[in-house]
Amino acid sequence: VAYKIGILGLGTVGTGTVEILLDPVDRHPSIGEIQIAGVGVKSLDKPRTTKLPKTLLTTDLETIVTDPEIAIVVELLGGLEPSRSLILQAIQHGKHIVTANKAVIARYGEEIFTAANKAGVYVLIEAAVGGGIPIIKPLKQSLGVNRIHRVTGIINGTTNYILSQMTEKGADFADVLAKAQELGYAEADPTADVDGWDAADKIAILASLAFGGRVKREDVYAEGIRNVSAVDIDYADRLGFIIKLLAIAQTTTGETRDKLQLRVHPTLVPKSHPLASVNDVYNAILVEGDPIGQVMFFGRGAGAGPTASAVVSDLLNIVALLATNGSSLDPLLSCSHHGYCSVSAIEDLVSRFYVRFLCADLPGVIGHLGTCFGNHHVSLESIVQIGLQHDSAEIVVVTHDVREGNFRQALTEIQSSAAIKSIPSILRVFS
Ligand SMILES: NC(=O)c1ccc[n+]([C@@H]2O[C@H](COP(=O)([O-])OP(=O)(O)OC[C@H]3O[C@@H](n4cnc5c(N)ncnc54)[C@H](OP(=O)(O)O)[C@@H]3O)[C@@H](O)[C@H]2O)c1
Repeated sequence: VAYKIGILGLGTVGTGTVEILLDPVDRHPSIGEIQIAGVGVKSLDKPRTTKLPKTLLTTDLETIVTDPEIAIVVELLGGLEPSRSLILQAIQHGKHIVTANKAVIARYGEEIFTAANKAGVYVLIEAAVGGGIPIIKPLKQSLGVNRIHRVTGIINGTTNYILSQMTEKGADFADVLAKAQELGYAEADPTADVDGWDAADKIAILASLAFGGRVKREDVYAEGIRNVSAVDIDYADRLGFIIKLLAIAQTTTGETRDKLQLRVHPTLVPKSHPLASVNDVYNAILVEGDPIGQVMFFGRGAGAGPTASAVVSDLLNIVALLATNGSSLDPLLSCSHHGYCSVSAIEDLVSRFYVRFLCADLPGVIGHLGTCFGNHHVSLESIVQIGLQHDSAEIVVVTHDVREGNFRQALTEIQSSAAIKSIPSILRVFS
């Protein structure tokens, strides 16, 4: 039996997917049962590297999503439209969906999964987070028995590459970004990556799987890496930390599971922590739960081959289910969410902070800082005068776990003192 599939998009991931499907030797035997019936692209004239017959290519993507012969549609276009509409149309025509599109899933997950459940089809998204790293199916299946406390990811390769280069070379953000763009590691418009939006899409998806409820994309607090400076990387290093862009979803400490903290921000990670050694374009996701403890997934978070590995693994899952004639949806693979997770407001987030002050080198500044933080119940782990710049002293403070709202109030009070010239950086510390 052959299972006919249609692929939308023959770019980086589409090409990697076709390459695996056309070369099934020594892979899982079911790959040989998958037949590419059509591939939708924007331009028929573009030179292509695949051995796919040209006759399979079309610019009329609707013919693919409505073709009665096609059982599975693989969406690898990217962007919100026409991806969203084509996915919905394919579902209405009874097709299972495999997609790598985190942007669409993070924003239109409810609409898409509701339609899929109604139509009795799967929407599988292994490639949407962590590229080649298996993390979606582990969260749905292998780890589902656990009470998950926290999911922490380095899930954007571009920013991890930039921060790794800044750390290694002592270089500034703008220079490293330009170099990354030259090498093709960063896009011409790097906004989605460097401002943390791509990581926010991905942590919204991971959180919904780990915590058993839908997550609204706008509930994820996202702060990117544009303001991370070589100076802070150096100071962090001296204090025993490495700066990483972390995406974190966790239950609120000591409270009920139904309040989630969801955030993406540059974070000081202790050098001894396993996430600290995830460098360059690599991704990693640390899942913590009961009774599993800690489990970490590591690998290539992007690229044609790794991402295609995840796409084809989803195809294999669907083919296996079709082959066994499942009459209803497998509850471990389909979406069973009803409500939304409730998410803490940013002021209620609890974390440790690193903050750098530039101040007039006046006696009493450290006392003033201590008093203001104390007034707002912000307890300090360390307070050090690190350097002298021109006529300003640089003081770095690391706090214990504090409520963000209290921390911000303390900063407002601190700034009212004439001795404080500026606060060049505020970063969070992983604990
Ligand atoms: N690249 C990665 O490493 C990676 C990793 C994980 C997930 N993803 C996700 O995978 C998806 C695809 O990414 P990609 O890097 O493979 O993208 P890409 O290289 O830009 O390829 C996009 C493909 O879609 C086609 N396309 C785009 N818009 C179209 C339209 N309106 N009508 C018809 N065809 C259209 C393009 O056609 P032409 O070829 O004719 O231009 C191209 O073949 C995205 O959702 C991305 O977020 C990518």
